[in-house]
Amino acid sequence: MKTKIAGIGHYVPENIVTNDDLTQFMDTTDEWIRERTGIEERRYATKHKESTTSLGAKAAKIAIDRAGIKPEEVDFIIFATLSPDYYFPGCGVLLQRELGITKSEAAALDIRNQCSGFVYGLSIADQFIKSGMYKNILLVGAEMHSMGLDFSDEGRAVTVIFGDGAGAVVLQPTDKEDQGILTTCLHSDGTHAEELAMINPGSHGGYHLGVEKFGYPDPSTPGGVFVTQKMVDDNMLSPNMTGQLVFKTAVVKFPEVIKEALDKTGLTTEDIDIFVPHQANLRISQFVQRTLKLPDEKVVNNIQKYGNTTAASIPIAMSEAWEQGRIKEGNLVCLAAFGSGFTWGSALIRW
Ligand code: UT7
Repeated sequence: MKTKIAGIGHYVPENIVTNDDLTQFMDTTDEWIRERTGIEERRYATKHKESTTSLGAKAAKIAIDRAGIKPEEVDFIIFATLSPDYYFPGCGVLLQRELGITKSEAAALDIRNQCSGFVYGLSIADQFIKSGMYKNILLVGAEMHSMGLDFSDEGRAVTVIFGDGAGAVVLQPTDKEDQGILTTCLHSDGTHAEELAMINPGSHGGYHLGVEKFGYPDPSTPGGVFVTQKMVDDNMLSPNMTGQLVFKTAVVKFPEVIKEALDKTGLTTEDIDIFVPHQANLRISQFVQRTLKLPDEKVVNNIQKYGNTTAASIPIAMSEAWEQGRIKEGNLVCLAAFGSGFTWGSALIRW
């Protein structure tokens, strides 16, 4: 028994934000953003009207429809995001409510694996399907970054990169010999956890990070340490990134983890029909493409239009490629991701 993708869909908000639009808020240029990242525009969801869950629900409905099932047939939801609607509960149960999945055996799981969230989710779903525990798993990657970014000059290196969107797949068992997920490879290394992170608000209480810096009250004071006034005053409630470290590590880990998947399955880079990398930065994807010696037609890039949508980027890119007829039955699809944690992973799927 293997796991097949039975349905796929994506949704991006209508509101297009160009690089020039961002120059109204911060000291940046279209030229800098295009040159360093390849990004031309991104989408921002509408505040008060949309959320990470609502974006995810729109993508999920398309995937469910294309799988030919009804929402109530979904028995397990996996929701990957770093920008959840609430600190808790997670988006999984909110999506369950939004889709009206009421059956008593249904369950929802949220995962926090940032850019590699979709690949991690795929691997989790694969194990549950292969074990026979679930028959219709809905895996969603969705992000509403625009709510948490710093639009001042200080935040420009991070803010220009990220966009909002969602992608989803429905996973089912298949007994066809040459179809489905062939392998998944997952890795993590917490050494650089804070180098690409949003650490506030949080329960760290200054642990590891310097209490003074965050303006925590005397440790004997009960409560009130999740978010401090100093965090607000000093603009410490947005993501930070040591861009060059992330870049340099990513271009090593992407090819490494793809090779691992190919070696495990006895395949080679020539066998790959289509490569869907996490859309981190066009320059990273181009570097990986050159390392793997893949021709342009085998590589999916849409970061130009959507920016980096973290856990949503692979399912959005895969869904678009499928809609454009670039992914066909029998194709070997290679997915790979690297990001915050650091966490990284790959998957090989026979479509
Ligand atoms: O999903 C995984 C998530 N992240 C990534 O994959 C990101 C990986 N890293 C990167 O993509 C790149 O490191 C960035 C695109 C984030 C930055 O490019 P860089 O070539 O590493 O630039 P830098 O951070 O070294 O900054 C170079 C200069 C600096 O100015 P000075 O100090 O040389 O005067 C920055 O202040 O560019 C400046 N800069 C900007 N200028 C205009 C930083 N951000 C901007 C900006 N617009 N948005």
